[in-house]
Amino acid sequence: MKYSEVLPKINTAKEGWFYMIGTESKKEEILKAFQFRYACKAFDTSKKISDKDFHFILETGRLSPSSFGLEPWRFVVIQNTALREKLKSVSRGAQGQLPTASHFVIILARQGLRHDSAHVIKMMTGIQHLSDEVLERVSGVYKSFVDTRLENNDRLISEWASKQTYIALGNMMTAAAQIGIDSCPIEGFDKNQVTSILQNEGIMKAGDFEVSCMVAFGYRQDGPNRSKARQNLDEVVEWR
Ligand SMILES: Cc1cc2nc3c(=O)[nH]c(=O)nc-3n(C[C@H](O)[C@H](O)[C@H](O)COP(=O)(O)O)c2cc1C
Repeated sequence: MKYSEVLPKINTAKEGWFYMIGTESKKEEILKAFQFRYACKAFDTSKKISDKDFHFILETGRLSPSSFGLEPWRFVVIQNTALREKLKSVSRGAQGQLPTASHFVIILARQGLRHDSAHVIKMMTGIQHLSDEVLERVSGVYKSFVDTRLENNDRLISEWASKQTYIALGNMMTAAAQIGIDSCPIEGFDKNQVTSILQNEGIMKAGDFEVSCMVAFGYRQDGPNRSKARQNLDEVVEWR
């Protein structure tokens, strides 16, 4: 589907006017969602996110952009109480979230994304359906990106994949906020310990993935809204 096909069609001046009104209220709605979202430390355990809403959140992660379209992520939804308890013992930054979140996700980043790896070949052929000719060209460009930009270095390749998982993370949290669902991004965990817990549970295999970040979803407990502490726009934007 082309981008133009999903945009509202504006054929007349009148429709254009309605479109503008729609755009303004949409912008307001989106900014409201950004104001609404905050890093929620503990959730109301009496409220569960519906399957439909959680599917919507996951879908925004799935549709997130990734370099070369390689989708270097896996979203592991941890609903098992005993497993959450184990993770809590090694996740300083998720003490309130792990026991109370309606849904708790660990985002894994793929490792070993070289041009001839099984995942890259699957994405370029099985998912993107590149023709042989295009595949040869794209694969060559990708190889030279990995060789130069990522110095053909395992650590840099993994970190590059991990960076991209944060795009999906951001999209999922913003999408959740737009339907009134709270969230908290989490990096406060012992990566080695979380890795060994997930490996022991058979959730990830050494060499395939690494733990990138976590995100908790649910509904906030009643209480005052936390006000936003942010620098002004002119402190973070520079025009030249
Ligand atoms: C990558 C990342 C990691 C974070 N890790 C944690 C964490 O481990 N535990 C936590 O409670 N909050 C965590 N936060 C939340 C931040 O502290 C919070 O987003 C920031 O203070 C701004 O506040 P706000 O999100 O409420 O506007 C993290 C945020 C980001 C983006």
